[in-house]
Amino acid sequence: MSKSRLIVLISGNGSNLQAIINQIESGDINANIASVISNKADAYGLQRAKKAGIETAIVDHTQYESRELFDHFLAKVIDQTAPDIIILAGFMRILTEGFVMRYAGKLINIHPSLLPLYRGLHTHKRALHDKATQHGASVHFVTPELDSGAVIVQGVISVKNNDTEETLATRVHQIEHIIYPQAVKLLTENHVKLRANRIYINNQRLQQPKQYGLKK
Ligand code: GRF
Repeated sequence: MSKSRLIVLISGNGSNLQAIINQIESGDINANIASVISNKADAYGLQRAKKAGIETAIVDHTQYESRELFDHFLAKVIDQTAPDIIILAGFMRILTEGFVMRYAGKLINIHPSLLPLYRGLHTHKRALHDKATQHGASVHFVTPELDSGAVIVQGVISVKNNDTEETLATRVHQIEHIIYPQAVKLLTENHVKLRANRIYINNQRLQQPKQYGLKK
């Protein structure tokens, strides 16, 4: 099977990018990252990419007058490599509907909650406030409505009595580093289609997201 071509979009630390790089380097994911694109020149993830010998590009959103112009230019850069999958990994920009539709079924994101719970920001704080017993992260297809696309994989953690936003964030990150590579592997090894916001893997409807847990 030929290697899948990936593009990863980041804005910051890039620990999820690193987790995916590690799985590719270990041979577990049969893919190449064609390029890592950041909207911020100082994103640490760019250094991670360079260290792994991956091409990088910066598309600085502050240089564009509108979201549409930024997305238009971003799409131009992406299309130079004709990727199979575009991975948002801590990419802190809201994308226009035109951009999202252009890459429908190829564009995935990781969100720090068990979607459909806690779309948007401050997910750990909101989970603690609700005294949720479980929390986690979800890898989902990106659709025009924020954090509402079909979920491929979820990582579930138990919330402890003494958890704070920080301790929860740490464990959610740990589970993210497991599930994002798993989701990418699944997409590269199977025929996966998104139709009417439903996921079909090798023509079988995925009834519910695949779930992973932390060992402790
Ligand atoms: C992750 O927590 C992810 O859920 C959110 O952004 C964060 C990115 O972290 N979308 P990193 O840059 O991969 O370390």
